[in-house]
Amino acid sequence: MKNLKHYREQIDKIDSQLLQLFEQRMEVSLDIAEYKKEHGLPIFDPKREQEKLDALNQPYEAKLYSTIFELSREHQEKQAKIVKINKKRILVINGPNLNMLGVREPEIYGSKTYDDLVKFVHSIGKEIGIETECVQSNHEGAIVDTIQEAFGNFDGIVINPAALTHTSVAIYDGLKTVSIPAVEVHLTDVYKRAEQEGEEFRKVSYVSRACIKTIAGLGFDGYAVALREILGVISE
Ligand code: DQA
Repeated sequence: MKNLKHYREQIDKIDSQLLQLFEQRMEVSLDIAEYKKEHGLPIFDPKREQEKLDALNQPYEAKLYSTIFELSREHQEKQAKIVKINKKRILVINGPNLNMLGVREPEIYGSKTYDDLVKFVHSIGKEIGIETECVQSNHEGAIVDTIQEAFGNFDGIVINPAALTHTSVAIYDGLKTVSIPAVEVHLTDVYKRAEQEGEEFRKVSYVSRACIKTIAGLGFDGYAVALREILGVISE
């Protein structure tokens, strides 16, 4: 005759398997959360949950699954919050006429558009695990406002002040005011242009004094270098 101990041992074995599978399920649910985030999908998918519940035969199975779904969602939401808190946020500011990329002097600035640049910046952000936000303005004051608003909201700034590079004390002061680590970027090699095109003014950058580094002449790749540079500094 089998005793209680025997049955309990059986139950313990099953429980240990159940727990292992439950842990595996919770891990996969985090992969799903990441996929959903990347594709802009919500964590809660009532249709999918209902389909799973409909496939069950016993009412207690449905009860168990409802709880599993709830725990899984809780786990995913917690993880999403941690990732969000830990992710560095970098603001990418582009100055006057950069919204006209693709149209503007393509022989100098290339054929890619501002939208292409924004997509490129976000793709690099994703690759290196940071959040990126892009802002473009043709107005000096609006750029100063953007820099001020970054205070407390961003960990780093990548800035291509465009023509304002060579004139703006206000942007220089703005960067010093918020004292957020910043890297200056130029699509073209401003120093070479100063020499070759006789545009002496391009040699002068007021903004560079408030930046950790200036990257010029690498096209879109300059933004990637700048993002990596900033991340290195703010992760120290
Ligand atoms: C620029 C260079 C500036 O001299 C110029 O005024 C720009 C673009 C660049 O990205 O190469 O508008 O910042």
